[in-house]
Amino acid sequence: MNREVKGLGVKESGTKEKLLALFEENKGTYFSGEEIAERLSVSRTAVWKAVNSLRGEGYEIDAVQNKGYCLSVSTDILSAQGIRKYLKPACAFLEPEVLPVAESTNVLLKERAGAGAKEGYVILANSQTEGRGRLGRSFYSPADTGIYMSLLLRPRAYSPDQAVRLTTMAAVAACEAIEEVSGRRAQIKWVNDIFMDDKKVSGILTEAAFSLEDNGLDYIVVGIGINAYPPKEGFPADVAQVAGAVFQTRQNDGKNHLAAAFLNHFISYYAAGENMDYAEKYRARSLVIGKEIRVLSPAGEKEAVALDVDEECRLVVRYEDGSREKLSSGEISVRLR
Ligand code: BTN
Repeated sequence: MNREVKGLGVKESGTKEKLLALFEENKGTYFSGEEIAERLSVSRTAVWKAVNSLRGEGYEIDAVQNKGYCLSVSTDILSAQGIRKYLKPACAFLEPEVLPVAESTNVLLKERAGAGAKEGYVILANSQTEGRGRLGRSFYSPADTGIYMSLLLRPRAYSPDQAVRLTTMAAVAACEAIEEVSGRRAQIKWVNDIFMDDKKVSGILTEAAFSLEDNGLDYIVVGIGINAYPPKEGFPADVAQVAGAVFQTRQNDGKNHLAAAFLNHFISYYAAGENMDYAEKYRARSLVIGKEIRVLSPAGEKEAVALDVDEECRLVVRYEDGSREKLSSGEISVRLR
């Protein structure tokens, strides 16, 4: 057969994984059972079993006589194969793994990091039972509608300050990914909540581990949750006022594309190291500059005006008594409407 078909280009070994890679890279294209069997070097029965198994996981696979099988273009299921097809060459070292469910991808990745997992290992889950947010909060993580992803980094010779900057870098990368895939503007509520049309669509939780042996940074886990679609049963009452989603209707590959776009943007900054130039992009997307805010701390709440975001993505605030402070972490509240 002479038609141009994109190669597998993936490392998976199982028939089902290989078939998914072929389908994902050629969505909407029909393949006869015979052609698939030849390409994957397996029997027709193995192909049939793999098709059924993918269908069991929710993949919409058409079967038409004399044409064969085809993955529907409207399929939007997170998978390593679906993500890889959007990853740029600079992200070739990433190893995404998608799980149907995890307690928390951050917690799981930290466990695996402790057991020696390599930089670039990425765990994604279709849902989380105990998704974690900043400041001990939970992150609502229902099935099928969101992206819950944690990326393992082992930066060499990073200072704690540089490690903190990974969070703000992730916020810029999240905005750029959302804008690239949805065509709509995303903004940052300091430190790292991502908003669209005044609704929070994404949150970031970065966690670091330090080695006792050499007193240095051992690893960093960058965790991001993105509400791709509104949950089927709506957001729970405690977040319904503030939470939103990137898309309102189902998109072809919305989740895989978003996940990969985040990784592409983030890795481009991370790879630039000291030259990472994102503070201006962070500032340009700030939702709070010029607004009256409330700075929340264990000591209590203080009214302030957010004046600026500096080169290190610290929030420059002026309190009611005229004093100024540069905040490098913490929590603020802002009235959006
Ligand atoms: C926040 O908004 O406070 C941060 C939310 C971070 C959620 C993500 S989802 C993937 C990763 N695993 C977690 O348990 N949390 C982060």
